[in-house]
Amino acid sequence: MLVAGNWKMFKGHHQAREFAAQIRRIPAHAQGVDVVVCPPFVSLDATRHGLGDDSGVGVYAQNVHWELEGAFTGEVSAPMLLELGVTGAIVGHSERRQHFGETDETAGLRAEAALEAGLHVIACVGETAAEREAEETEAVLARQLAAIPRHERLVIAYEPVWAIGTGKTATPEIAQEAHAFVKSLHEAPVLYGGSVKPDNAATLLSLPDVDGALVGGASLDFPSFETICRAGAEVA
Ligand code: PGA
Repeated sequence: MLVAGNWKMFKGHHQAREFAAQIRRIPAHAQGVDVVVCPPFVSLDATRHGLGDDSGVGVYAQNVHWELEGAFTGEVSAPMLLELGVTGAIVGHSERRQHFGETDETAGLRAEAALEAGLHVIACVGETAAEREAEETEAVLARQLAAIPRHERLVIAYEPVWAIGTGKTATPEIAQEAHAFVKSLHEAPVLYGGSVKPDNAATLLSLPDVDGALVGGASLDFPSFETICRAGAEVA
């Protein structure tokens, strides 16, 4: 069971450090749950320091480039992350696909390079509302999954785009069906993401093919993130 908090473009250096000091003990109260946070690049180091050495909360980046170094303004490489003590990265998040030109191909390149360098990877897939309405969900997921490598350090996050930041969570039926489909094509554990909150976490996390959660908005607040991690521990 993995519960990952995606902070998106929230929490700069100071806030990250303070928040990390608050959440550092969550793993001690959430047995069986791997707890991870994904701060913005500039807050990775502060988060590591706020957590300290013995907290057990993992720190992942929200993105990673596929080259080791070079003329790639605005990008960060896997060795740079490892040097900071960062142990994983998200790739292919739908916000990167929607706003920053991320494609199946670039998401795959990022995942491969990160794994090769020794990082863990959370690779995101998910259909838009229009794709679901057009009954293209399975075709979209199959296409996205085909670009994602198989590896023991890789997990998939199924995040229906229409559920992200909208408060519209997938029903347990929709989530279970999509997760079962993803698992029929890829052997990795599958996290659910999209408006996971303290009041729906237990239901979603107890579905047979849901192996954890990728939490956005609700991971920015200590009580709500802790409640979701504890809900994971109940069913882990
Ligand atoms: P949300 O975001 O929980 O705010 O919907 C999830 C995500 O984008 O990873």
